Amino acid sequence: MIPSVLPTYNRTPLSFVKGEGSWLTEADGRRFLDLGAGIAVNALGHAHPELVATLSGQAQKLWHVSNLYQIPEQQALADLLVEQTFADTVFFTNSGTETAELAIKMARKYHYDKGTPRETFLTFEGAFHGRSTAAIAAAGSEKMVKGFGPLMPGFRQLPWGDMEAFEAAMDDSICAVIVEPVQGEGGIRPMPEDQLRALRAACDRTGALLIFDEVQCGMGRTGKLFAHEWAGVTPDIMMVAKGIGGGFPLGAVLATEDAASGMVAGTHGSTYGGNPLGCAVGLKVTQIVSDPAFLAEVGRKAGLLRQKLEGLVAGHPDSFDSVRGMGLMLGLKCKAPAADLAAAAREAGVLVVPAADNVLRLLPALNIPDEDLAEAVERLDTAATAFESA
Ligand SMILES: Cc1ncc(COP(=O)(O)O)c(C=O)c1O
Repeated sequence: MIPSVLPTYNRTPLSFVKGEGSWLTEADGRRFLDLGAGIAVNALGHAHPELVATLSGQAQKLWHVSNLYQIPEQQALADLLVEQTFADTVFFTNSGTETAELAIKMARKYHYDKGTPRETFLTFEGAFHGRSTAAIAAAGSEKMVKGFGPLMPGFRQLPWGDMEAFEAAMDDSICAVIVEPVQGEGGIRPMPEDQLRALRAACDRTGALLIFDEVQCGMGRTGKLFAHEWAGVTPDIMMVAKGIGGGFPLGAVLATEDAASGMVAGTHGSTYGGNPLGCAVGLKVTQIVSDPAFLAEVGRKAGLLRQKLEGLVAGHPDSFDSVRGMGLMLGLKCKAPAADLAAAAREAGVLVVPAADNVLRLLPALNIPDEDLAEAVERLDTAATAFESA
């Protein structure tokens, strides 16, 4: 008999009843160090006092009114994002997938309004942009698209890192290029800075729009507010979600005035997107995370974690191959099956997230205390030792 919850997930048999900072407590009382942070969502850990106060304060006042009305919390968050980034304008969603939908629509409408419609998006192998019909077509992986065809036309996947293939594909028929500056689901793969700059140059040359998907790598995760800042290039459109709500479902599409020029009244909308509750929390998260002192701390913690992980890899050459990633978006490339190592880690009381390419993702809260990072790596060491002797 089919379960009452549609069985689309392979769930671990753990059920948490409480979260505090980087710790999760299971129903039976066991405590786990959470290095997954709800897949890069709990940017400030669980039950952050300021977020709890903001959420409950807003909950007492006003939850939802719809976008038929002015929403001051939404306006304040949009103003802050515009102040902090390349963007001139912001649209709020409830998830990352919805940001992909709007980014795609916005790019098509941009070219349509310029009088030269363009259909084709270039994306990269290993990409993940969500699970809507357009987003799976964009990613194009067999696992995601099989059985769901016909797919939305207009997406072409290129090999990751193959700049010759990219340059050959770029011409003035390309609508936009969509890329994660650091692939998340694809196995924590940063796109080298010179490649990001080459994408920008090719888009400028051909008139294509450049769309960065920073749903996973944005909001301070790499030690800058957005990962593309390291490369010194800006996109025309950017997708943001996950960390921006700190656990409240919230996403945002950021765009330049030019890229967004086609999106006039009536061209897009959302019942919930940008509601007072979500935006009050998103504003608080963004205020905290965009503080240069906070971002510097992320960088320092990242250095500490990376150093400890290099030691872990050196100590367990049969289990691990290498460390990769940026900031607090790190991947342990495994030699042993990553899923088995994740299970051993769980046994040792630390939670990590498997990704493609046999990688374990470490995406801790950005404010994780140093002692929790140290404890987490000790537990990973215990897990690897137990796995190797099993
Ligand atoms: C880079 C990227 N884009 C888009 C998405 C889709 O976001 P959501 O699951 O919130 O719809 C994800 C989710 O993992 C992601 O990592």
